Amino acid sequence: MKLSIVGSGYVGLVTGAVMSHLGHEVVCVDLDPEKIHAINSGRPPIYEEGLAPIVETSVAAKRLRATSDLHEAVQQTEITMIAVGTPFDGERIDLKYVKDAARAIGRALKELSRYHVVVVKSTVVPGTTDRVVTPILEEESHRRAGRDFGVGMNPEFLREGVAVEDALHPDRIVIGGNDVQTRKVLSELYDVFSSAVRINVNNATAELIKYASNSFFATLISFSNEIAALSSRIPGVDIADVMNGVYLDRRMSVVDAHGERRTPDLISYLWPGCGFGGSCFPKDVKAIASELKRLGGEPILLQAVIDRNNAQIAEVMSLLVKHFKKLSGKKIAVLGVAFKPGTDDIRESPSVNLIDHLLNEQAEVLAVDPIVTEIPHLRSPELRWFKSLESVTGVCDAVVLMTSWKEFKKLENQKVEAVVIDGRRFLDKSKFSRYEGIGLNAGAE
Ligand code: UGA
Repeated sequence: MKLSIVGSGYVGLVTGAVMSHLGHEVVCVDLDPEKIHAINSGRPPIYEEGLAPIVETSVAAKRLRATSDLHEAVQQTEITMIAVGTPFDGERIDLKYVKDAARAIGRALKELSRYHVVVVKSTVVPGTTDRVVTPILEEESHRRAGRDFGVGMNPEFLREGVAVEDALHPDRIVIGGNDVQTRKVLSELYDVFSSAVRINVNNATAELIKYASNSFFATLISFSNEIAALSSRIPGVDIADVMNGVYLDRRMSVVDAHGERRTPDLISYLWPGCGFGGSCFPKDVKAIASELKRLGGEPILLQAVIDRNNAQIAEVMSLLVKHFKKLSGKKIAVLGVAFKPGTDDIRESPSVNLIDHLLNEQAEVLAVDPIVTEIPHLRSPELRWFKSLESVTGVCDAVVLMTSWKEFKKLENQKVEAVVIDGRRFLDKSKFSRYEGIGLNAGAE
């Protein structure tokens, strides 16, 4: 099928690259001439594992191209996806780019006689597709949604770092659409994934599925972090043992007829630590909590999820303060600045927050990250950057692990005199003489 995608960020481009790789003809639309040039030269403008080879082969095979001409892209395709950013002001998502895209698509629809389907892929609060996007499309095109063109909502569930794998092997396809024809066209588009489970819902339900998924995981993370806060205050208790005990419940790790356990991925994903970051969890939980409030409800649990996440930096700081009365002048190595391993993304990274706190306390920070080399809004002579562990562990007073990059496992084989604070419970505590971890109280029982 012929598909255009407005917005070549990580969602738009990964979706476009994978769809073209699977045989569709895709046009990526973006305003940024550098992005367009890069894509048309066969190079992705962002880093994502496995993306470069499929962009290169799809561009060479003429199944993928980029343009700034949205009008032409809509005219030449059957489906247009909106995958633009929804910046967050701390309370609400800003629909500016979604509206701009809808206006331009609407203008292009005006001149189109065949049925075209417009799909919202950006994460938007329930009701946006029907109450914001559809009226703009109708107004600009002078046509009727559901009769002259279709409007659908199709959220993405890609995780940064493994987005290409996730896009190639979706665990579910949520097809939102208020009319039969829209759902039919979207179903046909997704026929390239024969085995993925599909659910057909209305647009508002599709929108809420996305928020509910992210909030669900964020809630579980905050739950384990709250139990970790309790564990660390009870002598002799380690949250790792507590969570292992919880996870053995057969409703989570199913015991088969032969007595074998099947350990779900959730268990390796979900682990207490210094909190969640990134461009999705913090923003999505806050946005959906605000939406509940706006609709007259009280976001009691979602607010607690956010509060617990915000409290995690204080938990890390308290482990440092246990060893140093004053942090001023202390050399603190911070291992990991990206919000999670496998990416250079520092948006809402707990590590950035910690570094800010440490600099405020006049500590000297030695930041170590395999990819990240700067925090643009945090520049200070007290903040120095290193690519690997070796250059810092011998010279610092404390090492604080904030991102579980696998290369940091090497710390276990080094003789570390400094206090080691494990913000992700990633390291083997028995390998260090002075180890502290989130949710660990090593005190005597
Ligand atoms: C998340 C979701 O997992 C994806 O399903 C979703 O599509 C995506 O947001 C999105 O909305 O676009 P992502 O932000 O890439 O994906 O990263 P995750 O691997 O889910 O991690 C999010 C944050 O939670 C990271 O800071 C991670 O370190 C943290 N985390 C994760 C914890 O603090 N504890 C855990 O136990 C697990």
